[in-house]
Amino acid sequence: MTDMNEKRLEERTTRAEKEARAIEEELEKLSKGDLSYVGNPELDKLLTENEKLKHRLAILENAIKVETESSAAIKKEAKKRTLPMLVTDTKSVESNFCILEELKNLFEVAITNAYPDLENPPIALTLSGNNPKFGDYQCNSAMAIAQLLKANNVKTNPREVANNILNKTPTSPIVQRIEVAGAGFLNIHLNKEFVEHVLSSILKSGIQPPAVKKEKVIVDFSSPNIAKEMHVGHLRSTIIGDSICRVLEFLNNDVVRLNHLGDWGTQFGMLIAHLQDKYPDFKTKSPPISDLQAFYKESKKRFDEDEEFKKRAYSCVVQLQSHQPDYIAAWKLICEVSRQEFQKIYDRLDIKIIDRGESFYQDRMDAVVQFLKGKGFLEEDEGRLIMWGSEKREGIPLTVVKSDGGYTYDTSDMAAIKHRVDEEKANRFIYVTDVGQYTHFMTIDACARRAGILKDDQRVEHVGFGVVLGEDKKKFKTRSGDTIKLIELLDEGLKRSLDKLVEKGRDKVLSSEELKRAQEAVAYGCIKYADLSHNRINDYIFSFDKMLDDKGNTAVYLLYALTRIRSIARNAQISLDSLLAEVDRIGLKLTHESEWKLGKTLLRFPEVILKVSSDLYLHSLCEYLYEISSAFTEFYDKCFCIEKDKEGKIVKIIYERLMLCEITARVMEKSLEILGIKTVSKM
Ligand code: ARG
Repeated sequence: MTDMNEKRLEERTTRAEKEARAIEEELEKLSKGDLSYVGNPELDKLLTENEKLKHRLAILENAIKVETESSAAIKKEAKKRTLPMLVTDTKSVESNFCILEELKNLFEVAITNAYPDLENPPIALTLSGNNPKFGDYQCNSAMAIAQLLKANNVKTNPREVANNILNKTPTSPIVQRIEVAGAGFLNIHLNKEFVEHVLSSILKSGIQPPAVKKEKVIVDFSSPNIAKEMHVGHLRSTIIGDSICRVLEFLNNDVVRLNHLGDWGTQFGMLIAHLQDKYPDFKTKSPPISDLQAFYKESKKRFDEDEEFKKRAYSCVVQLQSHQPDYIAAWKLICEVSRQEFQKIYDRLDIKIIDRGESFYQDRMDAVVQFLKGKGFLEEDEGRLIMWGSEKREGIPLTVVKSDGGYTYDTSDMAAIKHRVDEEKANRFIYVTDVGQYTHFMTIDACARRAGILKDDQRVEHVGFGVVLGEDKKKFKTRSGDTIKLIELLDEGLKRSLDKLVEKGRDKVLSSEELKRAQEAVAYGCIKYADLSHNRINDYIFSFDKMLDDKGNTAVYLLYALTRIRSIARNAQISLDSLLAEVDRIGLKLTHESEWKLGKTLLRFPEVILKVSSDLYLHSLCEYLYEISSAFTEFYDKCFCIEKDKEGKIVKIIYERLMLCEITARVMEKSLEILGIKTVSKM
């Protein structure tokens, strides 16, 4: 590509040079002649033309220089590129082995061997479809490489490229064979012994996280606003954020779970003014503001209707911000009531999070404003101080200081990112909010980079999600049109899940303790799973009926599937120890077609986890869980694990199959744990 550009540039330069020379000759001829040509329009035109051409020439020459230098640098870089180490010995492979990663490495080596001069050739690997004819994975790089070669005037076609790659592919213990098919696909068939080896190592050493470079990650999620309602949007952020933390923690990253509470700002003025009126002795007696939302509404109403109150509310903000002890006490009290409410939700959903609200950054906001001012990044705009993410003033600027001197949401986020970089020393910053705040966080990212707070190796990611809708596809509200209180929503979940269990007669078989555990696992599990199993970017419809359905891709279905799998070994009365002893004695063998299919599916766990940890889309993990349980159902239909005689006495146990059951259960349990869903042994 670079060579092509270079050629084109050179052609243009030669042309410009020629034109310039011709005009210069013309000018020389003219200047030797009659002086009356001075001021001649013809000559003037030629002179300007000449200037322009010289200018163009200079630009083109410079472009060639830059182009040549950068292409030389890229070529040098390509030569320097070290190829990945490949697995050569099955025995060295452990339970956390990621097949997809190894195949990527294998083809990187193959393609580099086949086309050493190609800069950054595409390494495209995917799973093959369901047809076993097409192998287990496929490499689709040949098509793109053929295109690249054609652009460089090399005559070839994708099939030829595919064959060439195949010839240069080193042998690998994980691959049984590779075939060129169709337009130039490379179909990869996995080696059965290898798959069996990795599966048995999962049995022996459990599920281990795939190896990745550890990072310090800040996950900013949940983050409701004090006194205002914690709405379903915050519920989504809480569920998605917690699950993201769980994936990253599983991969042994250093994860800081932060609750960026909206606990500082002008709304406190009216809350405090209202508190002073309603509960004047709030400092000695704790007032019964059990319903902070109602309290907020009342004060808002007064604020909007009563000028006198409004004035007082503003002066309360000033008092609070200058840390008057009484005002700080009132503020603390309100925050505490709110926090206790939020905590109830976190406890129920088993969410761990550290409170570090906007108020935490008070002093740091002063400091960051001084810092930005000092570096000359702040501009005045109708009394405000703003900062643009780019020098070109594109997009929307941050409002760093309001015209009244106060700070904003933007200011607190600039102070927060500086703290997270300088003091927390993290290198990945994740924000989980609705998609509407995407631009805000991208501007924070741009401004923080421009100001030199963020460095190249640090990344900001906005994990956006859509709106929660009711079954009528309108905004999620109660029948009377009020916003839904989260605690009430969770209560309804509990009620409905109990109804469901009773409907199935589970109350007659489970102890009351077991029933309660199942009820909670189902209720909270189904709410979380419904949220996580949809592509988060989209809006999603909240429906208890759908999420409690025991058919289809729901938590209930998966939890039932899991208890059934767990009951197989229990009924056969085979302990884990005796199963492990059998692994050592007879090994794990995949004979039947559906065993093979299930086994391969189970080994995709590391690949799915790596994908989720990088793109932060949890629905892939949910889809994967559903695939496992479908593969398991097919296996269980076709392959019996225990044989019984007419009296129901066990006459034969097929240990290899019980081993597969055990691994399936482990992979499912780990996946559900990452989704924040509690499993139960009976339900
Ligand atoms: N409190 C905000 C809201 O309710 C969310 C905060 C997100 N985090 C942040 N660092 N801005 O919309």
